[in-house]
Amino acid sequence: MTVTVLDTPADVALAVATRVAEAIAGRPSLVLGLPTGNTPIGAYAQLRRLHGEGRADFSRVSTFNLDEFVGVSGHHPGSFRQFMARHLFTGVNIPADRIGFLDGTAGDLEAECRRYDKAIAAAGGVGLQLLGIGANGHIGFNEPADSLIAGTHYARLLESTRRDNALLFEGDASKVPPEALTMGVGSILGSEAILLIATGTAKAACMAGAVNGPVTTRLPASLLQLHRQVEVIVDRAAAAGL
Ligand code: PGA
Repeated sequence: MTVTVLDTPADVALAVATRVAEAIAGRPSLVLGLPTGNTPIGAYAQLRRLHGEGRADFSRVSTFNLDEFVGVSGHHPGSFRQFMARHLFTGVNIPADRIGFLDGTAGDLEAECRRYDKAIAAAGGVGLQLLGIGANGHIGFNEPADSLIAGTHYARLLESTRRDNALLFEGDASKVPPEALTMGVGSILGSEAILLIATGTAKAACMAGAVNGPVTTRLPASLLQLHRQVEVIVDRAAAAGL
């Protein structure tokens, strides 16, 4: 793991976007794994800017997002699909047919998970996986538990995670679906390279565990220590426990 500590969330956003733009320049057909959440919003804004300035061409890039709510269509304003449209997709030139997303309204959710794993494999696997981290150490919707699931799967969300996502549903945590589909820890660790981003004091404890603590399913991000190519970019607040 390499850890880069920067002063502010704005510095983190710029560094992450620059890293992604460099990766695309080096490999124009890069397969990107993408997270939602507050953390990557600044980096997505910087990527839109770089694209607008002609410094990032996504025309051959493919993307796969980590997760989506069950029972929420990709047209619903609370969906992660619409979050990505707002923050990234409408501002860059990723071809629509290269945007991979889980369908939380699929009739057969198990088949939908298998379809997703096959689609990622058919694309050659994820080249660069961007990740946020939950204050409880979750990655994607892989919540702390006694055991974790490797592949894409159906997951029940913790109440704390539903509260964290309330803004997408008119600020009302009870409206956040209690279930989601998510890439598993095996899918994430199968990526060629991983870029973990965290900002703010609320992430200091989980980042300390993820980087320096024991590898445990009780802090899913700690499993990233098993991967050979993980880059961590954090601000000073999130690095306080490192
Ligand atoms: P956040 O969420 O970026 O909104 O803090 C991160 C996560 O839950 O993975």
